[in-house]
Amino acid sequence: MKALLAAILRQYRLDPEGFHGESHWARVLENGLWLAARTAANVDVVRLFAYFHDACRENEGIDADHGRRGAALAVRMRGEYFDLPDTDFALLVDACARHTAGPTTGDPTLLACWDADRLDLGRVGIVPDPDYLCTALAKKEHGHIRFHHDRDITQALLILHGEENPDA
Ligand SMILES: [Fe+2]
Repeated sequence: MKALLAAILRQYRLDPEGFHGESHWARVLENGLWLAARTAANVDVVRLFAYFHDACRENEGIDADHGRRGAALAVRMRGEYFDLPDTDFALLVDACARHTAGPTTGDPTLLACWDADRLDLGRVGIVPDPDYLCTALAKKEHGHIRFHHDRDITQALLILHGEENPDA
């Protein structure tokens, strides 16, 4: 994951410390790992979604195509920085490409990815609306401190940087 993160940061056009940068990716990763451990979601896809879904943003506001660009980046980096079986890779591409459109139904892996991202809307001052969350788990738990944007993310950043094994 270290080489993958470095490659993503090399092409990232915005401030890595901005609203959609590393801290957000780390919280999405932590949210996603928590959800994946409790649902039928594929943990590898959920993990990679955290890295790719906002990796190709061109601004911090409305950037309708950034999900599709993130998916395209995953296509380009597959085989060099990570790999996934075809079915799982298709889920990763779909999760990135459609995460901005706001769907709430689909494969459990897609739902965990989208909830992991939406649970972090607090960073831009938006309280996640349960109606826009996908999983029963996120709808029930969204107010929990574990999802708060202001929580301590030391551990989450270590996991993002590949310095801590999330499964340990
Ligand atoms: Fe995001």
